[in-house]
Amino acid sequence: MAALLSRLTTVLLALLFLTHGAVAQQQAPQEPCKEGHSSCFLMRGLQQVYDPYLTDWGSIQFDPNTPVFERFERLLGRCTDRNLGLGAGLMRIVNGDGTLVWEGAYDGGPPGRNAKPPPVTRKHPYEIASISKMLTAATVFTYVDEGRINLSDKIMDLVPNETKVPPTLHQYKGKYYTDQITVQMLLNHKSGLPEYWSSPDFNKTFLADVNRWWEPEEVIAFAAKMEAHYVPYTGEDEPYIEKYDQMAVYYSDTNYILLGFLLEELEGKPLAEVYKLRLYEPLNMTSTWLRYREEARSSLPILNRYWSKPAIHGNEQIDMSLHRRQTAEWAGGGLVSTNEDLIKVLRGIFESRRPGPGGLYKNNETVQRFFGPDAFHMHVDYDTKEGQWDNVYSSGIFKVKFDNEEWGEILGHEGSGNSFVYWLPPLETSDGRRLGDYYFVGTLNQLEQLPDIPNLFWWFDVVWETVEQLVDLEVQEKLAVEIPQLPKYLQERQAEAQRPAIET
Ligand SMILES: *[C@@H]1O[C@H](CO)[C@@H](O)[C@H](O)[C@H]1NC(C)=O
Ligand SMILES: *[C@@H]1O[C@H](CO)[C@@H](O)[C@H](O)[C@H]1NC(C)=O
Ligand SMILES: *[C@@H]1O[C@H](CO)[C@@H](O)[C@H](O)[C@H]1NC(C)=O
Ligand SMILES: *[C@@H]1O[C@H](CO)[C@@H](O)[C@H](O)[C@H]1NC(C)=O
Ligand SMILES: *[C@@H]1O[C@H](CO)[C@@H](O)[C@H](O)[C@H]1NC(C)=O
Repeated sequence: MAALLSRLTTVLLALLFLTHGAVAQQQAPQEPCKEGHSSCFLMRGLQQVYDPYLTDWGSIQFDPNTPVFERFERLLGRCTDRNLGLGAGLMRIVNGDGTLVWEGAYDGGPPGRNAKPPPVTRKHPYEIASISKMLTAATVFTYVDEGRINLSDKIMDLVPNETKVPPTLHQYKGKYYTDQITVQMLLNHKSGLPEYWSSPDFNKTFLADVNRWWEPEEVIAFAAKMEAHYVPYTGEDEPYIEKYDQMAVYYSDTNYILLGFLLEELEGKPLAEVYKLRLYEPLNMTSTWLRYREEARSSLPILNRYWSKPAIHGNEQIDMSLHRRQTAEWAGGGLVSTNEDLIKVLRGIFESRRPGPGGLYKNNETVQRFFGPDAFHMHVDYDTKEGQWDNVYSSGIFKVKFDNEEWGEILGHEGSGNSFVYWLPPLETSDGRRLGDYYFVGTLNQLEQLPDIPNLFWWFDVVWETVEQLVDLEVQEKLAVEIPQLPKYLQERQAEAQRPAIET
């Protein structure tokens, strides 16, 4: 699913334009982009790709007296509100040393619009969609770290089962290349394997029954009937995707389904058990699970996650969190988690960059291969030829550069429905201050595509503007006073959320 939506092919762009062009214009009376504002950075980065679909929502200009927690609250609320009352927004910000900076839940929209009754809490689990890829990659790297597999190992050797890895899976211009695919190529989408979510046959079967149970072998069978996008690519640069006439890697969930098989094979256990053993236990993650394949690990209901494709559903909004057919996501997008658990994964990965108990990996080589500077050199196929923005991939991790160089970059992953997990490495501000690192996690649980607003990357806005706050000296001074008050603040917010909603 994630791939279906997060990949913006020319076709999808055309669709967006056809169905939304006119409405988007009416929606555009927002303030013009002001130089130096976060939304300008957002616009500049994305405009090349999405122009003219994006509108500038404008930065919020806060009164200097506004408490920082209230600013975060309003930023989250503003992004969530754009969803026209569908889906809640959650966000958690943690300091590099593990200190909680802020967390919030925003149950947007008029009462009754949400499928789950309020209050939405900060602890609610949600479907993390493609963020699952980062967790799958993180799990694979635990085996690399222990020397149990090499990234250059061939998937057909590691998973010698023709139902899971059919020799005919990778076919390109009349020849088969499946035996050349390595673990590394699956992790960074260099295999050229097609995307089963893009198969018209798969699509038809998927749409026909919302309750269909999907086994991963079945989605592979659909992929095996499709043409690959290039020969498994061994070069250091980016392969050429003929279909889109561009240099990029072809982002495909098929790659991550194969990695799921690999994990099961290595451990001799079902995938859900492997995550538990290799991630949840070492990192003390208490509320993450592979949905439909095991018992829920939270007593709270899963937040709704909406999907709408006007071409398919008209104006109907589909709550994907109620559909068993989402079993088709599996290792590429099938996990449910919470903000607290996702921060644990992020810290487990990025704390490994230095020796200490917090990191998941022991070897510097693993770290370098996973998220070292040389690991990032590939654009993904939804950067168009006209404008690749500064967004590159390694192995299950995106690196997104801010246009404002002072802010550097963030590393992590996004999921369809506007979920996000990102790490902001330590940076030096233009006035010479050293800012520690931060973790940002959350979801806006939004429609991937509202009938009249393209909203694929709204999470950027909330992260961008939060970073804009954090680099500000006065905000840091205020935070030093506010953070000790955080437990009291959260208690009050929760009490407020539990009051019955007022009919307006
Ligand atoms: C990984 O590669 C190294 C060096 O080529 C080799 O010594 C080692 O045996 C390989 N490990 C596995 C599990 O294949
Ligand atoms: C291959 O995988 C299928 C399911 O994908 C399983 O039923 C079968 O037993 C496996 N074959 C072997 C030889 O392990
Ligand atoms: C999926 O099917 C719908 C409805 O038939 C169609 O509009 C849509 O374009 C299809 N998508 C793909 C990727 O084939
Ligand atoms: C594990 O996580 C839970 C839930 O966040 C927490 O209550 C507990 O203290 C943690 N345990 C350890 C050993 O850190
Ligand atoms: C880790 O590896 C990188 C790249 O090979 C190297 O530059 C760096 O010094 C190493 N760091 C440590 C702590 O060994």
